Amino acid sequence: MYNEIDLDQIDINIEPPIKEPDRQYYFIAKCRRLVQQFEKNNGRRPSFFTQTFGCQMNARDSEKLAGILESVGFTEAESEEADFVIYNTCTVRENANNRVYGRLGYLHNLKKKRPGMRIALCGCMMQEPAVVEKLKKSYRFVNLIFGTHNLYKFAELLTRCYETDQMVVDVWDQADQIVEDLPVERKFPFKSGVNIMFGCNNFCSYCIVPYVRGREKSREPKEILREVERLAADGVVEIMLLGQNVNSYGKTFDPPVTFAQLLQEVEKIKGLRRIRFMTSHPKDLSEDLIAVMAQSDKICRHLHLPLQSGSSRVLQKMNRHYRKEDYLQLVKKVRAAMPDLALTTDLIVGFPGETEEDFLETMDVVKKVGFDSAFTFIYSKRSGTPAAQMEDQVPEAIVKDRFDRLLKEVQQISAQKAQQRTGSVQDVLVESINDHDASLVTGKLDNNMVVHFKGNAELIGKIVKVSLDTCQGFYYYGSRADEKAATVQNAAAFSDSQSRV
Ligand code: SAH
Ligand code: SF4
Ligand code: F3S
Repeated sequence: MYNEIDLDQIDINIEPPIKEPDRQYYFIAKCRRLVQQFEKNNGRRPSFFTQTFGCQMNARDSEKLAGILESVGFTEAESEEADFVIYNTCTVRENANNRVYGRLGYLHNLKKKRPGMRIALCGCMMQEPAVVEKLKKSYRFVNLIFGTHNLYKFAELLTRCYETDQMVVDVWDQADQIVEDLPVERKFPFKSGVNIMFGCNNFCSYCIVPYVRGREKSREPKEILREVERLAADGVVEIMLLGQNVNSYGKTFDPPVTFAQLLQEVEKIKGLRRIRFMTSHPKDLSEDLIAVMAQSDKICRHLHLPLQSGSSRVLQKMNRHYRKEDYLQLVKKVRAAMPDLALTTDLIVGFPGETEEDFLETMDVVKKVGFDSAFTFIYSKRSGTPAAQMEDQVPEAIVKDRFDRLLKEVQQISAQKAQQRTGSVQDVLVESINDHDASLVTGKLDNNMVVHFKGNAELIGKIVKVSLDTCQGFYYYGSRADEKAATVQNAAAFSDSQSRV
């Protein structure tokens, strides 16, 4: 365990060990010397900045990067005006890539003004050979490039990056192992993501994730539980179990462990108040999981269940393994077990060959289900995926029109759904001081919606009861319900004592 390792005891004059994570601790110790040298020369420690693109899994990976950088001795900077800048990239849609190229121009200018600055790129986009070729050719100012499978080697790569002026490129085709017990620097003291599996085997025909994240690999239950126990002991009250398809967790173990079983074990951990998970594929959401969720005190009443399309014909071409009716049936089942469940989804518009009728099927499911919220995406052609080869790609103007109609419908429904909860009292995990009004704090409901209410920094990380007074469409203004109750009680106690006198 990281906290128990004395970095000063590691002999960096011998060859690095082969075994992980020992090897990375060797490089952490080695890189620390480089940082100490920097401090001597500059009278300050070097600074770092991480920028995350993409999903929760990337966000968690960035915490691992920050963990290494901090243990090496870097301090965190507020912006890219830092000594070491790393972008953890996403490539799920073309615009994710474009954003990175856009930012790189800005970084190049910064680097010209900041001698010694190092720029690193990692994450899903780096798993695409065409991207790396482009970077090698036209973005020579980038110092370090690595992918998703060797992120655990970051300390080693960082050391190499500081020992050479050459561009260091190290991208692997697949993962060789899951390395446990490396340092992690959490962004929030009170909540954390926890990886339960890596990769994806589903190969939805539009999606690049299986190509850039590799095959499904589950983490050992005991490692997951150990991590959650430590997090809870360290003050974490909410965890989000992360995987591209959590419902297929543990299938490769002998004997297999199901996601439902894992949840039951996680639930037992003391101190933990809320459990979330992302993402569930509708094709294998089990009865057991529904039952475990329904009985649980800690699992949030929220299910993110990506639909993608409401047309069975399109779903088949997407390789999703369910039909429109199956999805509606599943929703019925989960709602019967948990009437207060918030349901959210992902939708893609303009998949190749999508007709107006197909699109209306999606609209139909949206209306029938009434999602609490939905992420709507315009189909993005990802080279290397089967859908990219499909004929009849839908013209842009038609896609745009469908997208606008869908978005309007989705927003109307989620506003109605949110309105229905107005007036109720909910548990809220307070996350921060409000960005615009320092007299308010901002927190999240169990269904992930945002609420602002009067409060101060002492409440951050606490779960309090809040009455949702007004709904502003996607968020609420509220007031402390426990305080109100306390005030009423105090008043009653006071009048009691008065009457007794
Ligand atoms: N594993 C998760 C999703 C990961 S990607 C799942 O299956 O639910 C997040 C979302 O991005 C997907 O649900 C999908 O809606 C969207 N997406 C993936 N590939 C896309 C593409 N090529 N174009 C547009 N949206 C895409
Ligand atoms: Fe992509 Fe499908 Fe895997 Fe999700 S389940 S990551 S959409 S291939
Ligand atoms: Fe993007 Fe990679 Fe996540 S492609 S959505 S960051 S798994």
